[in-house]
Amino acid sequence: MMKMTGFMKGAAFMVMMFSCEGMAQDIVQLPLPEQAGGLSVAEALKLRQSGKNFSDRGIDAQTLSNILWAAWGINRSDGKRTVPTAMNEQNMNVYAVSDEGVWRYDALLSQLEPVSESNVVPYLATQEYAVNAPLFLLYTTTGEAADFNAAMQAGSMYQNVALYCASAGLNNVVRSYFDRASVAATLGIAENAILVSQVVGYPL
Ligand SMILES: Cc1cc2nc3c(=O)[nH]c(=O)nc-3n(C[C@H](O)[C@H](O)[C@H](O)COP(=O)(O)O)c2cc1C
Repeated sequence: MMKMTGFMKGAAFMVMMFSCEGMAQDIVQLPLPEQAGGLSVAEALKLRQSGKNFSDRGIDAQTLSNILWAAWGINRSDGKRTVPTAMNEQNMNVYAVSDEGVWRYDALLSQLEPVSESNVVPYLATQEYAVNAPLFLLYTTTGEAADFNAAMQAGSMYQNVALYCASAGLNNVVRSYFDRASVAATLGIAENAILVSQVVGYPL
């Protein structure tokens, strides 16, 4: 089956979709992340900022894959990641959210696993500048509750994404002001397992 996803509103290509038993949504097979190119680290650091305006331009599958790889990708053959975790616990998740639902990033398979068909964007886009953005990231811990380590790990994740965004001409804002209880209830996770969110999209 072929389908356009909400991240890719307006994008001129399709992604392969595979049926997932018991879910109306499909697994999204992403292209492998690009692990070369872009600005230098110094150039990206110079451009890093919160850009609080978003067009409704979609994010294509390659760019989405690159964003998620920056956040929580595997960058070595031993399975370690683009961000460090205390004692290599790897006890984090990143969810990709659009107005079409919620997916969990599986870095090993470069896939998005469907989590919910519900539109939780209204719970996340609690400031006017974010309402048209095509992509929201949600950083969570797989532990029962977020601790200092999880908070620091989430910070590494959103900063990697912020630097990728700076390199790719995308705006982003890290956001802690959102309706955590409603998001947690929809995702079926504990509210205190949610660290922070990040809105991503192209500038107006
Ligand atoms: C943990 C954290 C939470 C934040 N929460 C919000 C938020 O809820 N809403 C918002 O508009 N900006 C939020 N920001 C973005 C800050 O407003 C922004 O980083 C700050 O104004 C500095 O601007 P700069 O990122 O362009 O340097 C947050 C930033 C961080 C690091």
